[in-house]
Amino acid sequence: MKITGKELRQKWLEYYKARGHVDIGAVSLIGDGTTGVMFNVAGMQPLMPYLLGKPHPAGKRLCNVQGCIRTVDIDSVGDASHFTFFEMMGNWSLGDYFKKEKTAWTFGLLTEVFGLDKNKLCTTVFEGNSSAPRDEETAALVVGLGILPEHVYYLPKEDNWWELEGTVGTPCGPDNEWFYPLDPEKKNPVFPDDYVEIGNDVYMQYKKTETGYEPLSSKNVDTGFGFDRMLLFLNGLSDAYKTDLFEGALRTLEALSGKKYDDGGETQRAMRIICDHTRTSLMLIGDRQGVLPSNVGAGYILRRIMRRAIRWCRKLGVSSGAMTEVAKVFIHEVYGEAYPLLVEKEEYILSEMKKEADRFEATLASGMKEYEKCVNGIARKNEFMAKSDPSYVPETVIGGKAAFRLFDTYGFPLELTEELAEEQGLTVDREGFEAAFKEHREKSRVIQKGEAKGGLESHSEMAVKYHTATHLLNAALKQILSPDCNQKGSNITDERMRFDFNFPRPMTEEEIRAVEALVNAKIEEDIPVVYKEMSLEEARAEHFVGVFDSKYGDVVKTYSIGDFSKEMCGGPHVERTGVLGHFKIQKEQSSSAGIRRIKAILE
Ligand code: ALA
Repeated sequence: MKITGKELRQKWLEYYKARGHVDIGAVSLIGDGTTGVMFNVAGMQPLMPYLLGKPHPAGKRLCNVQGCIRTVDIDSVGDASHFTFFEMMGNWSLGDYFKKEKTAWTFGLLTEVFGLDKNKLCTTVFEGNSSAPRDEETAALVVGLGILPEHVYYLPKEDNWWELEGTVGTPCGPDNEWFYPLDPEKKNPVFPDDYVEIGNDVYMQYKKTETGYEPLSSKNVDTGFGFDRMLLFLNGLSDAYKTDLFEGALRTLEALSGKKYDDGGETQRAMRIICDHTRTSLMLIGDRQGVLPSNVGAGYILRRIMRRAIRWCRKLGVSSGAMTEVAKVFIHEVYGEAYPLLVEKEEYILSEMKKEADRFEATLASGMKEYEKCVNGIARKNEFMAKSDPSYVPETVIGGKAAFRLFDTYGFPLELTEELAEEQGLTVDREGFEAAFKEHREKSRVIQKGEAKGGLESHSEMAVKYHTATHLLNAALKQILSPDCNQKGSNITDERMRFDFNFPRPMTEEEIRAVEALVNAKIEEDIPVVYKEMSLEEARAEHFVGVFDSKYGDVVKTYSIGDFSKEMCGGPHVERTGVLGHFKIQKEQSSSAGIRRIKAILE
């Protein structure tokens, strides 16, 4: 390696610190919600309020290396250049220096620190439009520094204007992009085909409005250089997984699989996907806002990423445990120093990864059977129809409802079904999937409003999980607080559960944690949930709890979870507690006199 990841990180920060910048460190990967963008996709995103004029506590000159997540290209991960997590080296002037200093510093960094040849550097500037003028000022400055005038290109808005797409009220402006020949030895390289963009300086002096752009009170600079790309480029590599960032991860996968990365083909693809997705997963779980896999929002994206990685582990011929091994290497050898929280949270990260892997492994086998049934159904239909009608065009689409069932009941992210389908030359009806999803949400809302009857006639997978969780909670409360605690009501939605019970005082923090821990211990034990019909008398004798309003001789429905929980109940319930995930009490409060209310979620 000509330059390691660690050296590049240091050089960037030292260069800007020597020019009065404060290293503000990386912040959470999760967007703060102000722009509607779920993850930080650029280093500037968390700094938006300051670019819009709010004073930053660290001053007017800032720098850092910030993790970013972009999942739009997830399907391309597996090739030599795409990642879902990457870092951006950034520096900012908040209404302080502007074009003169910035061009000189970028030029200095590239030519003096990184040793690039000024005669080979190319740069692009904004050609101007009705919102902002042609950037002749920057063009003149870079030529003054030594860039050849014929290496300065004026380009339109689609190339040289930077803004967060799909947002309003956000800072933006013309940018100055820096390029270098991909192969510096190539004679007469042609721009842009033979060049690679290595970074850009955005002159953020506008605010995006509903209708156009308005000038900001302060003129800012927002610089972003892709860390991973720069590392690749400075080492003269063309495969982004060949930098030292992935050395340990690949070594681990090679040892576990007995295969070689350089063998190429599917082996290489699998190793790249496992590396990238494991890195992103550990960054999300280990983030200060700690995401956990779930079926909604950021949690769902994490689940998709993890489950895709697990599938590729299987393809590579290693167990999903390979992910935790790779994660350990990333934490210890690559990211622990820059992201100390990862070291602190290592045990938690690894155990959460393992939990999700176990959950997925458990459903994968049954899900694959269901998937195959569905594909075989299509094949049978095609065969049958082709026999009776020679002009029949074979069906190649997996229906939206079937895809939704795979998602809802078997935990198959849509992308997983699509990927499996693609391998067999099939596609999935995405619109049909969305429609089924919508219908399902509407049904859950009915549950939420209490329009469906305590029997959960209309239920989603999540509501069923919450239902089983209420049984665990009920039993845990009896054990931790008092055997006299009884359920007084419950309300379940797809996103949370509410549980009312009699108890004369607020629970202490210790009691809350103990109840939570007991429920989680029972989830971990993965106990089967057993359904049995019996007479009311039998149920009474066997100490099932519930409302004994049935008449003598009636048959009642019962559910037991080992010896821990025994309730009379109409169901439905999950088959085993292990699928519930992680139980968390969010709130304990008074509901009415002598009745407490717990709000809890499954993560
Ligand atoms: N905000 C600019 C980028 O992300 C620097 O490229």
